[in-house]
Amino acid sequence: MYSFREISKDIYWVGGSDKRLSRFENLFPLPKGVAYNAYLINDEKTAVLDSVDASISTLYINNVKKVLDNRDLDYIVVLHLEPDHSATLRELLVNYPNATVVINQVGLRIFKQFFGDICKNVQIVKEGDKLNLGKHELEFVFTPMAHWPESMMAYELSQKILFSSDAFGAFGSIDGALFDYEAGNNFDLDEYRRYYANILGKYGQRVEAAFAKLDGKAINIICPVHGHVLKDKIGLILDKYLLWAQYQSEQKGITIAYASMYGNTKDAAFLLANELAINGVTNIDLFDVSETDISYIISSIYKNTHFALLSPTYNLEIYPKMRALIDDMKMLTIRNKKAFIVGNGSWAPVVTEKISKEVSELQNVEQIVKALTIKSALDDSTAKEVRDAAKIIAEDIKNS
Ligand code: FEO
Repeated sequence: MYSFREISKDIYWVGGSDKRLSRFENLFPLPKGVAYNAYLINDEKTAVLDSVDASISTLYINNVKKVLDNRDLDYIVVLHLEPDHSATLRELLVNYPNATVVINQVGLRIFKQFFGDICKNVQIVKEGDKLNLGKHELEFVFTPMAHWPESMMAYELSQKILFSSDAFGAFGSIDGALFDYEAGNNFDLDEYRRYYANILGKYGQRVEAAFAKLDGKAINIICPVHGHVLKDKIGLILDKYLLWAQYQSEQKGITIAYASMYGNTKDAAFLLANELAINGVTNIDLFDVSETDISYIISSIYKNTHFALLSPTYNLEIYPKMRALIDDMKMLTIRNKKAFIVGNGSWAPVVTEKISKEVSELQNVEQIVKALTIKSALDDSTAKEVRDAAKIIAEDIKNS
């Protein structure tokens, strides 16, 4: 079976999707699956850009063979070595042993770590080098740490197509809608944000540096390795990436993440949300950290100007699921936010201070209201403190 599509003259999508994988990188839930895009240029010379995850290797090899129609493959361009794009390289080389692997120096080192010395022909490229295929020519743009150190993009000069590797991708399978304009209401910006925040979020400065290198290049089509091929929504996604790379929030709003064993801390979270709404806040995302995967909460925090963390004390520590969220926030270098903290505890409510310390280590994150401590359950006094805090936070959100 084969299933490929022409993207532009001589340029084909030869990738596919996986709806069975439950977690990307064995970590991030994939309720809508994931796409592994690879591309083929069928010119005087032939070139494949990247391979795919092992789960769709047969489809990929069939697609390449069908497009090439008995022609040989001249080049295998390797933009990124993470196995979701490199797992089928060995099989591709078995089918096309004469192909030259076009790769950068760092990429070759990683290639050999995965595959050993299986390459007969290698062409090392440097920043700005060009690969002429006939009517089409690829220029290489190095984008280290977007997503790995060897990551690079290829810019096709004649039709102004950017092969962007992991950048500008999204979670979600290609359900027929290869191009963004074919997705209609299924185009899911939330899955672009969740992908960016969790996969590339730590490397915002590197993503910004990649942007600088693309400045001045006209782009008609973006071909990422995940998500839709971008044509109509290039402006939207580039604008969002610029915000995300600079750790700027997209909207006035608040992410409330709570942990709760028996419902008492949950009551405080819902009271806070209700009071914020009463005070005019419209963008409120409320999550139970035991129920919602961290990747969604991180994505929401990226989007909103404010966040609130509410947690019980657990073994004289932060409740483990809240601890995991905070660790992830620190790893991904969440910054430029306003925060509010509520801790709970029945005999030693140390969590308030512990979360405050963790949050103080985030860059440019300010607590706009003094952190509150609940003893076991809200009473009239602590409920009033939550209501008063909500008024201040709502005002701050409005003015942000
Ligand atoms: Fe989609 Fe960094 O691999």
